[in-house]
Amino acid sequence: MTVPGAFVIFGATGDLARRMLFPSLYFLDADGLLPAGLRIIGAARSDLSDDQFRAQVQGWVQERAGAFFSKEAWDAFAKRLGYAAGDATDAKSYATLKDKMKGAPGEALFYLSTSPALYTPIVRGLASQGLAVEPNRIIVEKPIGKDRASCEAINSVIADHFSEARTFRIDHYLGKETVQNLIALRFANALFEPLWNRHAIDHVQISVAETVGVEGRFGYYNEYGATRDMVQNHLLQLLCLIAMEPPSNMRPESVRGEKVKVLRSLRPIENGELAQKTVRGQYTRGVAEGKSVPGYIEEEGGTPSDTETFVAICAHVDNWRWAGVPFYLRTGKRLPVRSSQIVIEFRDVPHSIFNGSPLIANRLKLNLQPDEDISLTIMNKTPTLTQGGYELQPLSLNLSLDDAFKGQKRRRIAYERLLLEAINDNSTLFVRRDEAEAAWVWVDRIIEGWSRMGMKPAPYQAGSWGPAGAFALTERNGHSWYE
Ligand code: BG6
Repeated sequence: MTVPGAFVIFGATGDLARRMLFPSLYFLDADGLLPAGLRIIGAARSDLSDDQFRAQVQGWVQERAGAFFSKEAWDAFAKRLGYAAGDATDAKSYATLKDKMKGAPGEALFYLSTSPALYTPIVRGLASQGLAVEPNRIIVEKPIGKDRASCEAINSVIADHFSEARTFRIDHYLGKETVQNLIALRFANALFEPLWNRHAIDHVQISVAETVGVEGRFGYYNEYGATRDMVQNHLLQLLCLIAMEPPSNMRPESVRGEKVKVLRSLRPIENGELAQKTVRGQYTRGVAEGKSVPGYIEEEGGTPSDTETFVAICAHVDNWRWAGVPFYLRTGKRLPVRSSQIVIEFRDVPHSIFNGSPLIANRLKLNLQPDEDISLTIMNKTPTLTQGGYELQPLSLNLSLDDAFKGQKRRRIAYERLLLEAINDNSTLFVRRDEAEAAWVWVDRIIEGWSRMGMKPAPYQAGSWGPAGAFALTERNGHSWYE
Protein backbone atom coordinates (compact mmCIF):
# COMPACT_ATOMS: atom_id res chain seq x y z
CA MET A 1 0.00 0.00 0.00
CA THR A 2 1.26 3.44 -0.90
CA VAL A 3 0.20 6.44 1.11
CA PRO A 4 -3.01 8.15 -0.06
CA GLY A 5 -2.18 11.48 -1.64
CA ALA A 6 -5.64 12.77 -2.57
CA PHE A 7 -9.12 12.41 -1.15
CA VAL A 8 -11.63 13.71 -3.66
CA ILE A 9 -15.23 14.35 -2.64
CA PHE A 10 -17.81 14.58 -5.41
CA GLY A 11 -20.92 16.41 -4.25
CA ALA A 12 -18.66 18.55 -2.06
CA THR A 13 -21.25 21.25 -1.43
CA GLY A 14 -24.07 18.79 -0.67
CA ASP A 15 -25.71 18.09 2.63
CA LEU A 16 -23.73 14.98 3.54
CA ALA A 17 -20.41 16.63 2.76
CA ARG A 18 -21.28 19.65 4.89
CA ARG A 19 -22.71 17.86 7.89
CA MET A 20 -20.54 14.76 7.99
CA LEU A 21 -17.64 14.39 5.58
CA PHE A 22 -15.68 17.62 6.01
CA PRO A 23 -16.23 17.77 9.79
CA SER A 24 -15.10 14.12 10.04
CA LEU A 25 -11.95 14.75 8.01
CA TYR A 26 -11.25 17.85 10.09
CA PHE A 27 -11.51 15.86 13.34
CA LEU A 28 -9.32 13.08 11.96
CA ASP A 29 -6.73 15.65 11.04
CA ALA A 30 -6.97 17.40 14.40
CA ASP A 31 -6.30 14.01 16.04
CA GLY A 32 -3.25 13.46 13.85
CA LEU A 33 -4.87 10.54 12.00
CA LEU A 34 -4.65 11.74 8.40
CA PRO A 35 -1.54 10.92 6.36
CA ALA A 36 0.85 13.84 6.10
CA GLY A 37 0.51 15.45 2.70
CA LEU A 38 -3.02 14.12 2.01
CA ARG A 39 -4.85 16.69 -0.11
CA ILE A 40 -8.62 16.95 0.15
CA ILE A 41 -10.28 18.13 -3.02
CA GLY A 42 -13.92 19.10 -3.22
CA ALA A 43 -15.62 18.63 -6.59
CA ALA A 44 -19.01 20.13 -7.37
CA ARG A 45 -20.81 22.28 -9.89
CA SER A 46 -20.64 25.68 -8.14
CA ASP A 47 -18.04 28.00 -9.49
CA LEU A 48 -15.79 28.59 -6.50
CA SER A 49 -12.15 29.44 -5.99
CA ASP A 50 -10.06 27.41 -3.54
CA ASP A 51 -10.34 30.24 -1.02
CA GLN A 52 -14.10 30.57 -1.37
CA PHE A 53 -14.45 26.85 -0.93
CA ARG A 54 -12.21 26.86 2.15
CA ALA A 55 -14.33 29.63 3.67
CA GLN A 56 -17.47 27.56 3.12
CA VAL A 57 -15.91 24.46 4.62
CA GLN A 58 -14.75 26.46 7.63
CA GLY A 59 -18.35 27.51 8.27
CA TRP A 60 -19.57 23.88 8.09
CA VAL A 61 -16.79 22.60 10.31
CA GLN A 62 -17.27 25.35 12.88
CA GLU A 63 -20.97 24.69 13.03
CA ARG A 64 -20.50 20.99 13.59
CA ALA A 65 -17.50 21.23 15.90
CA GLY A 66 -18.91 23.96 18.16
CA ALA A 67 -16.73 24.18 21.26
CA PHE A 68 -14.37 21.57 19.79
CA PHE A 69 -13.30 23.87 16.97
CA SER A 70 -9.64 24.84 17.17
CA LYS A 71 -8.26 27.62 15.02
CA GLU A 72 -4.86 25.99 14.98
CA ALA A 73 -6.25 22.64 13.81
CA TRP A 74 -8.37 24.43 11.23
CA ASP A 75 -5.41 26.34 9.79
CA ALA A 76 -3.54 23.08 9.30
CA PHE A 77 -6.60 21.39 7.80
CA ALA A 78 -7.34 24.30 5.46
CA LYS A 79 -3.93 23.85 3.83
CA ARG A 80 -5.05 20.44 2.62
CA LEU A 81 -8.20 21.75 0.92
CA GLY A 82 -8.68 22.52 -2.75
CA TYR A 83 -11.63 22.74 -5.12
CA ALA A 84 -12.34 21.59 -8.67
CA ALA A 85 -15.48 23.01 -10.25
CA GLY A 86 -17.22 20.93 -12.87
CA ASP A 87 -20.33 19.19 -14.01
CA ALA A 88 -20.08 15.46 -13.31
CA THR A 89 -21.68 14.67 -16.66
CA ASP A 90 -19.17 16.77 -18.60
CA ALA A 91 -16.01 14.92 -19.68
CA LYS A 92 -13.95 18.13 -19.40
CA SER A 93 -14.50 18.25 -15.64
CA TYR A 94 -12.25 15.24 -15.19
CA ALA A 95 -9.34 16.89 -16.95
CA THR A 96 -9.76 19.85 -14.58
CA LEU A 97 -9.85 17.48 -11.65
CA LYS A 98 -6.76 15.60 -12.81
CA ASP A 99 -4.96 18.89 -13.11
CA LYS A 100 -5.98 19.79 -9.60
CA MET A 101 -4.68 16.48 -8.34
CA LYS A 102 -1.18 17.15 -9.65
CA GLY A 103 1.16 17.52 -6.77
CA ALA A 104 -0.78 14.93 -4.75
CA PRO A 105 1.17 11.79 -5.59
CA GLY A 106 0.20 8.41 -4.20
CA GLU A 107 -3.18 6.73 -4.10
CA ALA A 108 -6.33 8.67 -4.70
CA LEU A 109 -9.66 8.01 -3.01
CA PHE A 110 -12.83 9.19 -4.71
CA TYR A 111 -15.90 9.65 -2.52
CA LEU A 112 -19.18 9.76 -4.43
CA SER A 113 -21.51 11.78 -2.27
CA THR A 114 -23.86 12.60 -5.12
CA SER A 115 -27.15 11.40 -6.46
CA PRO A 116 -26.72 7.75 -7.53
CA ALA A 117 -27.74 8.86 -11.02
CA LEU A 118 -24.25 10.41 -11.29
CA TYR A 119 -22.30 7.30 -10.26
CA THR A 120 -22.00 6.00 -13.81
CA PRO A 121 -20.83 9.27 -15.43
CA ILE A 122 -18.38 9.86 -12.57
CA VAL A 123 -16.83 6.40 -12.77
CA ARG A 124 -16.53 6.67 -16.54
CA GLY A 125 -15.19 10.21 -16.31
CA LEU A 126 -12.49 9.10 -13.85
CA ALA A 127 -11.59 6.19 -16.10
CA SER A 128 -11.34 8.50 -19.13
CA GLN A 129 -8.52 10.36 -17.40
CA GLY A 130 -6.77 7.23 -16.19
CA LEU A 131 -7.82 7.96 -12.60
CA ALA A 132 -9.60 4.64 -12.00
CA VAL A 133 -6.40 2.63 -12.12
CA GLU A 134 -4.91 0.62 -9.28
CA PRO A 135 -4.34 1.49 -6.44
CA ASN A 136 -6.97 4.28 -6.54
CA ARG A 137 -10.14 3.49 -4.64
CA ILE A 138 -13.76 4.52 -4.76
CA ILE A 139 -16.20 5.05 -1.89
CA VAL A 140 -19.91 5.03 -2.68
CA GLU A 141 -22.83 6.08 -0.55
CA LYS A 142 -26.16 4.36 -0.34
CA PRO A 143 -28.60 4.04 -1.98
CA ILE A 144 -26.88 1.73 -4.40
CA GLY A 145 -29.84 1.24 -6.68
CA LYS A 146 -33.53 0.99 -5.87
CA ASP A 147 -33.74 -2.75 -6.33
CA ARG A 148 -31.48 -5.65 -7.11
CA ALA A 149 -31.39 -5.01 -10.86
CA SER A 150 -30.39 -1.35 -10.56
CA CYS A 151 -27.91 -2.20 -7.78
CA GLU A 152 -26.29 -4.80 -10.05
CA ALA A 153 -26.18 -2.32 -12.91
CA ILE A 154 -24.37 0.29 -10.78
CA ASN A 155 -22.04 -2.31 -9.30
CA SER A 156 -21.17 -3.56 -12.78
CA VAL A 157 -20.23 -0.12 -14.04
CA ILE A 158 -18.06 0.40 -10.97
CA ALA A 159 -16.54 -3.07 -11.40
CA ASP A 160 -15.56 -2.29 -14.99
CA HIS A 161 -13.01 0.15 -13.61
CA PHE A 162 -12.54 -0.49 -9.88
CA SER A 163 -11.98 -4.02 -8.58
CA GLU A 164 -14.11 -5.14 -5.63
CA ALA A 165 -11.10 -4.77 -3.31
CA ARG A 166 -10.89 -1.11 -4.34
CA THR A 167 -14.63 -0.43 -3.92
CA PHE A 168 -15.90 0.74 -0.54
CA ARG A 169 -19.69 0.81 -0.06
CA ILE A 170 -20.52 2.89 2.98
CA ASP A 171 -23.24 2.11 5.46
CA HIS A 172 -22.74 4.70 8.15
CA TYR A 173 -24.41 2.51 10.78
CA LEU A 174 -21.30 0.32 10.69
CA GLY A 175 -19.29 3.32 11.86
CA LYS A 176 -21.41 3.88 14.96
CA GLU A 177 -19.62 3.18 18.20
CA THR A 178 -22.25 0.90 19.75
CA VAL A 179 -22.62 -1.05 16.52
CA GLN A 180 -18.92 -1.84 16.59
CA ASN A 181 -19.27 -2.57 20.26
CA LEU A 182 -21.82 -5.22 19.37
CA ILE A 183 -19.00 -7.11 17.67
CA ALA A 184 -16.86 -6.69 20.79
CA LEU A 185 -19.72 -7.74 23.06
CA ARG A 186 -20.33 -10.92 21.11
CA PHE A 187 -16.77 -11.95 20.37
CA ALA A 188 -14.66 -10.53 23.19
CA ASN A 189 -16.78 -12.12 25.93
CA ALA A 190 -17.22 -15.82 26.48
CA LEU A 191 -20.46 -15.21 28.35
CA PHE A 192 -22.83 -14.67 25.46
CA GLU A 193 -21.89 -17.14 22.74
CA PRO A 194 -23.30 -20.27 24.43
CA LEU A 195 -26.61 -18.43 24.83
CA TRP A 196 -26.64 -16.74 21.45
CA ASN A 197 -29.09 -19.02 19.70
CA ARG A 198 -32.64 -20.32 19.50
CA HIS A 199 -32.29 -22.33 22.72
CA ALA A 200 -31.85 -19.26 24.90
CA ILE A 201 -33.14 -16.36 22.81
CA ASP A 202 -36.86 -15.82 22.39
CA HIS A 203 -36.81 -12.97 19.91
CA VAL A 204 -34.84 -9.94 18.74
CA GLN A 205 -36.02 -6.38 18.13
CA ILE A 206 -34.19 -3.86 15.99
CA SER A 207 -35.84 -0.49 16.09
CA VAL A 208 -34.67 2.79 14.57
CA ALA A 209 -37.08 5.59 15.43
CA GLU A 210 -36.65 9.11 14.13
CA THR A 211 -38.54 12.24 15.14
CA VAL A 212 -37.62 14.10 11.97
CA GLY A 213 -39.75 14.09 8.83
CA VAL A 214 -38.31 14.00 5.35
CA GLU A 215 -36.28 17.18 5.93
CA GLY A 216 -36.70 18.77 2.53
CA ARG A 217 -35.84 15.50 0.73
CA PHE A 218 -39.35 14.65 -0.45
CA GLY A 219 -38.19 14.04 -4.02
CA TYR A 220 -35.60 11.45 -3.02
CA TYR A 221 -37.57 9.91 -0.20
CA ASN A 222 -40.76 9.50 -2.14
CA GLU A 223 -38.92 7.31 -4.65
CA TYR A 224 -37.45 5.12 -1.91
CA GLY A 225 -39.52 5.00 1.27
CA ALA A 226 -38.51 3.59 4.64
CA THR A 227 -37.88 0.06 3.41
CA ARG A 228 -35.34 1.01 0.77
CA ASP A 229 -33.93 3.96 2.71
CA MET A 230 -33.37 2.20 6.04
CA VAL A 231 -34.21 -1.52 6.08
CA GLN A 232 -32.26 -2.66 3.01
CA ASN A 233 -29.08 -1.23 4.50
CA HIS A 234 -28.92 -0.05 8.11
CA LEU A 235 -31.39 -2.43 9.75
CA LEU A 236 -30.26 -5.49 7.80
CA GLN A 237 -26.63 -4.71 8.62
CA LEU A 238 -27.53 -4.65 12.32
CA LEU A 239 -29.40 -7.92 11.90
CA CYS A 240 -26.32 -9.44 10.25
CA LEU A 241 -24.03 -8.46 13.12
CA ILE A 242 -26.42 -10.00 15.63
CA ALA A 243 -27.10 -13.17 13.69
CA MET A 244 -23.78 -13.98 12.00
CA GLU A 245 -21.57 -16.88 13.01
CA PRO A 246 -18.31 -15.93 14.71
CA PRO A 247 -15.88 -14.95 11.94
CA SER A 248 -12.42 -16.45 12.34
CA ASN A 249 -10.82 -13.01 12.42
CA MET A 250 -11.63 -9.38 11.67
CA ARG A 251 -10.36 -9.49 8.11
CA PRO A 252 -12.82 -8.12 5.52
CA GLU A 253 -13.51 -11.42 3.82
CA SER A 254 -14.10 -13.25 7.10
CA VAL A 255 -16.63 -10.79 8.49
CA ARG A 256 -18.38 -10.05 5.22
CA GLY A 257 -18.51 -13.71 4.31
CA GLU A 258 -20.44 -14.41 7.53
CA LYS A 259 -22.79 -11.47 7.00
CA VAL A 260 -23.75 -12.51 3.50
CA LYS A 261 -24.64 -16.00 4.75
CA VAL A 262 -27.18 -14.40 7.10
CA LEU A 263 -28.70 -12.32 4.31
CA ARG A 264 -29.05 -15.41 2.16
CA SER A 265 -30.73 -17.24 5.04
CA LEU A 266 -33.45 -14.62 5.46
CA ARG A 267 -36.74 -16.36 4.83
CA PRO A 268 -38.54 -14.77 1.87
CA ILE A 269 -41.89 -13.29 2.90
CA GLU A 270 -44.55 -14.68 0.59
CA ASN A 271 -47.35 -12.49 -0.74
CA GLY A 272 -49.93 -14.30 1.35
CA GLU A 273 -47.97 -13.55 4.56
CA LEU A 274 -47.41 -9.86 3.97
CA ALA A 275 -50.44 -8.68 5.93
CA GLN A 276 -49.31 -10.74 8.95
CA LYS A 277 -45.59 -10.11 8.76
CA THR A 278 -45.24 -6.56 7.49
CA VAL A 279 -46.75 -3.17 8.26
CA ARG A 280 -46.43 -0.05 6.14
CA GLY A 281 -47.37 3.38 7.42
CA GLN A 282 -47.34 7.00 6.34
CA TYR A 283 -47.47 9.91 8.78
CA THR A 284 -50.26 12.41 8.81
CA ARG A 285 -50.30 15.84 10.46
CA GLY A 286 -49.57 15.69 14.19
CA VAL A 287 -47.31 16.91 16.97
CA ALA A 288 -43.62 16.03 17.07
CA GLU A 289 -41.35 17.20 19.87
CA GLY A 290 -43.99 19.66 21.04
CA LYS A 291 -44.50 21.29 17.64
CA SER A 292 -47.31 20.80 15.22
CA VAL A 293 -45.95 19.30 12.02
CA PRO A 294 -47.38 18.62 8.55
CA GLY A 295 -48.29 15.22 7.23
CA TYR A 296 -45.96 13.49 4.78
CA ILE A 297 -47.79 14.55 1.63
CA GLU A 298 -48.01 18.12 2.92
CA GLU A 299 -44.23 18.39 3.29
CA GLU A 300 -42.38 20.83 1.05
CA GLY A 301 -42.59 19.47 -2.49
CA GLY A 302 -45.10 16.85 -1.35
CA THR A 303 -47.58 15.15 -3.65
CA PRO A 304 -50.19 12.44 -3.04
CA SER A 305 -48.16 9.31 -2.47
CA ASP A 306 -48.18 5.65 -1.53
CA THR A 307 -44.63 5.72 -0.14
CA GLU A 308 -44.18 4.34 3.38
CA THR A 309 -42.50 6.47 6.05
CA PHE A 310 -42.82 3.62 8.56
CA VAL A 311 -42.25 -0.06 8.22
CA ALA A 312 -42.28 -3.00 10.60
CA ILE A 313 -41.34 -6.52 9.57
CA CYS A 314 -41.23 -9.87 11.32
CA ALA A 315 -38.20 -11.59 9.77
CA HIS A 316 -36.78 -15.07 10.24
CA VAL A 317 -33.27 -16.35 9.67
CA ASP A 318 -33.60 -19.91 8.45
CA ASN A 319 -30.59 -21.73 9.87
CA TRP A 320 -29.80 -23.98 12.82
CA ARG A 321 -28.85 -21.17 15.15
CA TRP A 322 -31.97 -19.05 14.64
CA ALA A 323 -34.76 -21.39 13.53
CA GLY A 324 -38.05 -20.15 14.96
CA VAL A 325 -36.67 -16.89 16.47
CA PRO A 326 -38.51 -13.79 15.21
CA PHE A 327 -36.38 -10.77 14.35
CA TYR A 328 -38.66 -7.75 14.48
CA LEU A 329 -37.49 -4.78 12.45
CA ARG A 330 -39.08 -1.37 12.80
CA THR A 331 -38.20 2.07 11.53
CA GLY A 332 -40.09 5.25 10.88
CA LYS A 333 -40.05 9.00 10.62
CA ARG A 334 -42.02 11.35 12.89
CA LEU A 335 -42.12 8.86 15.74
CA PRO A 336 -42.30 10.14 19.35
CA VAL A 337 -38.58 9.83 20.16
CA ARG A 338 -35.25 9.51 18.42
CA SER A 339 -33.91 6.18 19.46
CA SER A 340 -32.10 3.29 17.84
CA GLN A 341 -32.00 0.15 19.86
CA ILE A 342 -31.47 -3.55 19.68
CA VAL A 343 -33.22 -5.76 22.20
CA ILE A 344 -32.32 -9.41 22.65
CA GLU A 345 -35.03 -11.03 24.71
CA PHE A 346 -34.08 -14.32 26.34
CA ARG A 347 -36.48 -17.16 26.99
CA ASP A 348 -38.56 -17.51 30.13
CA VAL A 349 -37.27 -19.78 32.85
CA PRO A 350 -38.65 -23.27 32.15
CA HIS A 351 -40.39 -23.49 35.52
CA SER A 352 -40.90 -20.89 38.23
CA ILE A 353 -40.42 -21.83 41.88
CA PHE A 354 -41.48 -18.34 43.04
CA ASN A 355 -45.20 -18.60 43.51
CA GLY A 356 -47.01 -15.37 42.99
CA SER A 357 -44.03 -13.31 41.84
CA PRO A 358 -44.16 -12.86 38.07
CA LEU A 359 -40.85 -13.43 36.31
CA ILE A 360 -39.67 -11.16 33.53
CA ALA A 361 -37.40 -12.69 30.92
CA ASN A 362 -33.78 -11.50 30.79
CA ARG A 363 -33.24 -8.77 28.26
CA LEU A 364 -30.06 -7.43 26.72
CA LYS A 365 -30.58 -3.95 25.36
CA LEU A 366 -28.12 -2.02 23.23
CA ASN A 367 -28.90 1.65 22.75
CA LEU A 368 -27.17 3.03 19.70
CA GLN A 369 -28.44 6.58 19.95
CA PRO A 370 -29.04 9.14 21.29
CA ASP A 371 -27.42 7.54 24.35
CA GLU A 372 -24.88 4.80 23.91
CA ASP A 373 -25.36 2.15 26.51
CA ILE A 374 -25.83 -1.52 27.08
CA SER A 375 -28.01 -3.00 29.79
CA LEU A 376 -28.98 -6.46 30.93
CA THR A 377 -32.22 -6.91 32.81
CA ILE A 378 -32.12 -9.62 35.43
CA MET A 379 -34.58 -10.75 38.09
CA ASN A 380 -33.56 -9.88 41.61
CA LYS A 381 -34.96 -10.39 45.09
CA THR A 382 -36.19 -7.19 46.68
CA PRO A 383 -34.66 -6.64 50.16
CA THR A 384 -38.00 -6.93 51.91
CA LEU A 385 -39.35 -9.46 54.35
CA THR A 386 -42.86 -10.60 53.49
CA GLN A 387 -45.11 -13.37 54.69
CA GLY A 388 -45.39 -14.68 51.18
CA GLY A 389 -41.68 -15.49 50.80
CA TYR A 390 -39.74 -14.07 47.88
CA GLU A 391 -40.66 -10.79 46.27
CA LEU A 392 -38.85 -10.33 42.96
CA GLN A 393 -38.15 -7.38 40.75
CA PRO A 394 -36.33 -6.93 37.45
CA LEU A 395 -33.18 -4.81 37.78
CA SER A 396 -30.78 -3.64 35.19
CA LEU A 397 -27.01 -4.09 34.98
CA ASN A 398 -26.04 -0.95 33.14
CA LEU A 399 -22.99 -0.13 31.11
CA SER A 400 -23.13 3.48 30.10
CA LEU A 401 -20.42 4.06 27.55
CA ASP A 402 -20.54 7.80 28.27
CA ASP A 403 -19.81 7.19 31.95
CA ALA A 404 -17.25 4.46 31.34
CA PHE A 405 -15.23 6.61 28.95
CA LYS A 406 -15.63 10.00 30.53
CA GLY A 407 -12.25 11.18 29.29
CA GLN A 408 -13.52 11.02 25.70
CA LYS A 409 -15.43 14.24 25.72
CA ARG A 410 -16.54 14.34 22.13
CA ARG A 411 -18.79 11.72 20.59
CA ARG A 412 -17.28 10.78 17.29
CA ILE A 413 -19.17 11.05 14.02
CA ALA A 414 -19.73 7.55 12.56
CA TYR A 415 -18.06 8.71 9.35
CA GLU A 416 -14.74 9.39 11.12
CA ARG A 417 -14.16 5.70 11.69
CA LEU A 418 -15.28 4.78 8.18
CA LEU A 419 -13.21 7.41 6.39
CA LEU A 420 -10.17 6.40 8.38
CA GLU A 421 -10.70 2.73 7.50
CA ALA A 422 -11.09 3.59 3.81
CA ILE A 423 -7.91 5.69 3.89
CA ASN A 424 -6.14 2.76 5.55
CA ASP A 425 -7.53 0.39 2.88
CA ASN A 426 -9.42 -1.79 5.33
CA SER A 427 -12.84 -2.81 4.03
CA THR A 428 -14.11 -4.85 7.00
CA LEU A 429 -16.68 -2.18 7.84
CA PHE A 430 -17.85 -1.73 4.25
CA VAL A 431 -20.53 -3.61 2.38
CA ARG A 432 -19.43 -6.13 -0.23
CA ARG A 433 -21.19 -6.33 -3.58
CA ASP A 434 -22.86 -9.67 -2.86
CA GLU A 435 -24.12 -8.37 0.49
CA ALA A 436 -25.76 -5.33 -1.07
CA GLU A 437 -27.35 -7.50 -3.74
CA ALA A 438 -28.54 -10.20 -1.32
CA ALA A 439 -30.18 -7.55 0.86
CA TRP A 440 -32.05 -6.25 -2.17
CA VAL A 441 -33.29 -9.71 -3.08
CA TRP A 442 -35.09 -10.02 0.26
CA VAL A 443 -36.39 -6.45 0.28
CA ASP A 444 -37.48 -6.52 -3.38
CA ARG A 445 -39.75 -9.43 -2.71
CA ILE A 446 -41.54 -7.54 0.05
CA ILE A 447 -41.91 -4.37 -2.00
CA GLU A 448 -43.08 -6.23 -5.09
CA GLY A 449 -45.52 -8.19 -2.93
CA TRP A 450 -47.01 -4.97 -1.53
CA SER A 451 -47.63 -3.71 -4.99
CA ARG A 452 -49.05 -7.03 -6.18
CA MET A 453 -51.34 -7.30 -3.16
CA GLY A 454 -52.31 -3.61 -3.32
CA MET A 455 -51.03 -3.08 0.26
CA LYS A 456 -50.96 0.68 0.79
CA PRO A 457 -49.41 2.37 3.83
CA ALA A 458 -51.78 2.87 6.76
CA PRO A 459 -51.91 6.42 8.14
CA TYR A 460 -50.37 7.18 11.55
CA GLN A 461 -50.33 10.48 13.31
CA ALA A 462 -46.96 12.26 13.44
CA GLY A 463 -45.66 11.81 16.99
CA SER A 464 -47.17 8.33 17.42
CA TRP A 465 -45.53 4.91 17.24
CA GLY A 466 -46.86 4.07 13.80
CA PRO A 467 -50.02 2.29 12.68
CA ALA A 468 -51.85 -0.02 15.08
CA GLY A 469 -50.84 -2.95 12.88
CA ALA A 470 -47.26 -2.55 14.12
CA PHE A 471 -48.37 -3.58 17.61
CA ALA A 472 -50.42 -6.47 16.29
CA LEU A 473 -47.31 -7.70 14.43
CA THR A 474 -45.53 -8.54 17.67
CA GLU A 475 -48.56 -9.26 19.82
CA ARG A 476 -49.63 -11.98 17.44
CA ASN A 477 -46.61 -13.92 18.75
CA GLY A 478 -47.13 -12.86 22.36
CA HIS A 479 -44.41 -10.16 22.19
CA SER A 480 -44.41 -6.40 22.48
CA TRP A 481 -42.11 -3.61 21.38
CA TYR A 482 -39.79 -1.99 23.93
CA GLU A 483 -39.90 1.76 23.67
C1 BG6 B 1 -29.88 7.80 6.22
C2 BG6 B 1 -31.27 7.92 5.67
O1 BG6 B 1 -29.18 6.76 5.59
O2 BG6 B 1 -29.93 7.53 7.61
C3 BG6 B 1 -32.04 9.01 6.39
O3 BG6 B 1 -31.22 8.22 4.28
C4 BG6 B 1 -32.00 8.78 7.89
O4 BG6 B 1 -33.40 9.06 5.94
C5 BG6 B 1 -30.57 8.55 8.36
O5 BG6 B 1 -32.56 9.91 8.52
C6 BG6 B 1 -30.54 8.13 9.82
O6 BG6 B 1 -29.22 8.13 10.27
P1 BG6 B 1 -28.88 8.36 11.80
O7 BG6 B 1 -27.40 8.17 11.88
O8 BG6 B 1 -29.33 9.76 12.14
O9 BG6 B 1 -29.64 7.33 12.56
